[in-house]
Amino acid sequence: MPLDTTSCLADLAAAFSGPALLTGDDRPARNTHDTSYLPAVTPLAVVRPGSPEEVATAVAICARHGVPMVPQGGLTGLAGGSHPLEGAVAISLERLGGIEEIDQAAATMTVRVGTPLEVIQKAADEAGFFFPLDLGARGSCHIGGNIGTNAGGNRVIRYGMTREMILGLEYVLPDGTLINGLNKMIKNNAGYDLKQLFIGSEGTLGIVTRAVLRMHPKPGCVNAALCGLNSYDDVLKLLAAARRGLGPMLSAFEVMWPDYWQVVTQEVGTRSPLEGQHAMYVLLESQGLDEAIDGPRFMAWIEAQFEAGVIADAAISQSLQDVKDFWGVRDACAEFTTVLGPHCAFDIGLPQSGMNAFADACRARLKEAMPEALSVYYGHIGDGNLHIVALDRSARQQPMDRINRIVYETVREFGGTISAEHGIGLLKKPYLPYTRSPEELALMARIKVALDPKGLLNPGKVIDTPTSEVSE
Ligand code: LAC
Ligand code: ZN
Repeated sequence: MPLDTTSCLADLAAAFSGPALLTGDDRPARNTHDTSYLPAVTPLAVVRPGSPEEVATAVAICARHGVPMVPQGGLTGLAGGSHPLEGAVAISLERLGGIEEIDQAAATMTVRVGTPLEVIQKAADEAGFFFPLDLGARGSCHIGGNIGTNAGGNRVIRYGMTREMILGLEYVLPDGTLINGLNKMIKNNAGYDLKQLFIGSEGTLGIVTRAVLRMHPKPGCVNAALCGLNSYDDVLKLLAAARRGLGPMLSAFEVMWPDYWQVVTQEVGTRSPLEGQHAMYVLLESQGLDEAIDGPRFMAWIEAQFEAGVIADAAISQSLQDVKDFWGVRDACAEFTTVLGPHCAFDIGLPQSGMNAFADACRARLKEAMPEALSVYYGHIGDGNLHIVALDRSARQQPMDRINRIVYETVREFGGTISAEHGIGLLKKPYLPYTRSPEELALMARIKVALDPKGLLNPGKVIDTPTSEVSE
């Protein structure tokens, strides 16, 4: 199919007008980049469909003319999955928002994918439920992007990743076919579970348009503690003790290394609810049923950890405001761009036992290569997911490739994954073979080619296929 840009734009203009199609000087700066620090690219046009059928129409038109497409949502992705491509139409789902239905009996919420995560959290709360997916970008990220990246976030230890929260999906295939799989049932083994292909594949196999979300009962009470510990070994002891002692109530286990604590308290200026300096910091959260029973149970468990010498010091929440303030220390990483400037952000995964040795090795190697390197370590250690923010403080332009290579080679050596939750996008694509075997990569390419034989949907993202190179 020859690329036919002019007639594609003419057909789009015949089908879409007003806010649904922005071309020429009307193309918004918003759609020229995501949050990956890749250089801005102005899309060929920005289509903003207002319904699933309009998404299908836009995709069918582009496919007919052989014009590549990039799906976009809240544009908060860190890996470049929704970064525009030269000569590609941006299909932005920002006008496809809103909650369509809350089903009390099934405990489901049916949403359009342009709905911000925080709107979904609040709607669940107002309906007497809890939607557990939570991450720093909650106010601006869209559920569509959360689905596209199989987002993780803060409560995976109890509720799993986004995949665990999706019962049904509607999506548009790269040829414009609209498929309604808005299943509400938890159990449905009728053939292949097709929705799983579209969760976490970063808009390379289809564009999701609506989703049936699985809600949970609202917790009856929440307790949290911000703990200082004497060693990483004690972090592992505390994690094991929390799993045993708090059981399914354990809803977050976030770990922060001293370099993270230093940047947050000194450079971001967040007030620390915990006095003193410690070798390690842990924010743990427990969601119970009844404060009268689970509050004292939490206190007793924390006291036992003090007595066993696992915790050196702790601030313990007395109110929901305290819980929020404790999370403020963890959410402060959202300010890193402002205080540190451009940097490399990582979401690597590793078995917990090797995490501290990895952090030590990584820090030392970055310092050895760049004496002014700053790297800070924190993350969802309960899930084996470590975040690193790294930069060369003496560089005018960050040596991104150099930093990436040092970090990912260390990940490979330690047997980890290059992405635990943010996805591959463009930034991590060169390193995917560090984590996936040639056979796995070949199978991914076969799936991509089967669904998108012309390589038109988000080409060159996640993996390269022969077709993605032709269409770029
Ligand atoms: C976090 C995001 C960056 O955990 O994944 O803060
Ligand atoms: Zn994270």
